[in-house]
Amino acid sequence: MTVHFIGAGPGAPDLLTLRGRDLIAACPVCLFAGSLVPEGVLAHCPPGARIVNTAPLDLEQIIAEIAAAHAAGLDVARLHSGDLSIWSAMGEQLRRLRALGIPCTVTPGVPAFAAAAASLGAELTLPGLAQSVVLTRTPGRASAMPEGERLAAFAATGAVLAIHLSVHVLDRVVAELLPHYGPDCPVAVVWRASWPDERVVRATLATLDPALGSEMERTALILVGRTLGAEDFAVSRLYAADYDRRFRPGAAAPGAPDRR
Ligand SMILES: C[S@@+](CC[C@H](N)C(=O)[O-])C[C@H]1O[C@@H](n2cnc3c(N)ncnc32)[C@H](O)[C@@H]1O
Repeated sequence: MTVHFIGAGPGAPDLLTLRGRDLIAACPVCLFAGSLVPEGVLAHCPPGARIVNTAPLDLEQIIAEIAAAHAAGLDVARLHSGDLSIWSAMGEQLRRLRALGIPCTVTPGVPAFAAAAASLGAELTLPGLAQSVVLTRTPGRASAMPEGERLAAFAATGAVLAIHLSVHVLDRVVAELLPHYGPDCPVAVVWRASWPDERVVRATLATLDPALGSEMERTALILVGRTLGAEDFAVSRLYAADYDRRFRPGAAAPGAPDRR
């Protein structure tokens, strides 16, 4: 018996990996994390599967569900939205399952920040403008932020910020970022990226209406950085005609150092 943790993606059912789909189809038990996991993903469960929404359960009850499946020799598909490596609560479940000696696998999923960037048609890292993306959040009721992880500290680097779990405090986010990025810095808010009711607002830190945050429901990402909507950036060296690289050796001038 194995518990398969599976990243269910950002919303669109066809943004699930083939591996994730096949594992769901092979598991007689499926535990899914609330409304962020779409019905279309659950449709891959085999007929007669036990399908449990874990949103109203606490950790003990979730572990009890898994332990019962383990005792019955039934594989479990454990679904969380997006990818499992960020804000999935997989870590605390894995720790408990390791202690119980229950085998687990992890299958990645498409994270919300990637879906939001796709909705914007944006590459977040552009030569000369930003080469780092910080996946972060603001403090919540259940989760304090470690001391060094203030928005202002990340903003001081000029990296692109993908701010999760924070649209309800949009006004505070904008106020904290303004001194670092400046009023003309592009910002985008993407609600429910890849869902049929997705909504995108593009603005600058000065023009973004902070009231938007309280108007919309919370499944939204705030993206801030100079690469958003940028047209004025350098061409990457990767496809430069004179760049000597692994699949086009010899393109560089004779005697140039090997950069592979
Ligand atoms: C608990 S976190 C889950 C993150 C997820 N594990 C991931 O890989 O993206 C939930 C937050 O992710 C963001 N989020 C999740 N799905 C989203 C979507 N489809 N569109 C925009 N933001 C989304 C929102 O900021 C939301 O508050």
